[in-house]
Amino acid sequence: MALCGCGGEDSTSTHSGHGAKPKPAPFDAMSIELTDANLIEGREVWLKTCTGCHKSGLGGAPLIADKAEWAPRIAKGRETLHDHAINGFSGPLMLQMPPKGGYDYLTDEQVKAAVDFMVHASR
Ligand code: HEC
Repeated sequence: MALCGCGGEDSTSTHSGHGAKPKPAPFDAMSIELTDANLIEGREVWLKTCTGCHKSGLGGAPLIADKAEWAPRIAKGRETLHDHAINGFSGPLMLQMPPKGGYDYLTDEQVKAAVDFMVHASR
């Protein structure tokens, strides 16, 4: 599993208790049936880059498929979430969503698709 782009923070342990959330069932991205090309691309991007935090809860990241965590974020609107994923975001808890998850080589379109996939899987 690739390390996330946390930039210096403790990213070597996949299960350091700090900021990690309890995980009920392992999330299997490939078990979700998709027909939309944008979501299929988003899943590919997500699997390569966003998993580091959004599958493990590293750094307090909202876990994919955790509906309760995502509902208030989804309520901000798709455009806002796209913007926060591309440009970075730090909410009231002072957690760090790095711009593009730290993967600078991603295009804006790829990041948006990954957000769409994560939202799709978290409704
Ligand atoms: C280094 C860890 C890390 C990586 C990698 C990462 N995220 Fe995040 N992300 C976070 C954290 C932490 C938050 C919560 C920020 C907060 O609420 O303060 C977050 C929040 C978000 C949000 C919600 C923003 C909001 O307004 O509530 C979106 C959307 C998101 N990430 C998308 C992505 C996408 C897409 C990727 C892959 C391209 C990605 N993240 C990769 C850590 C990460």
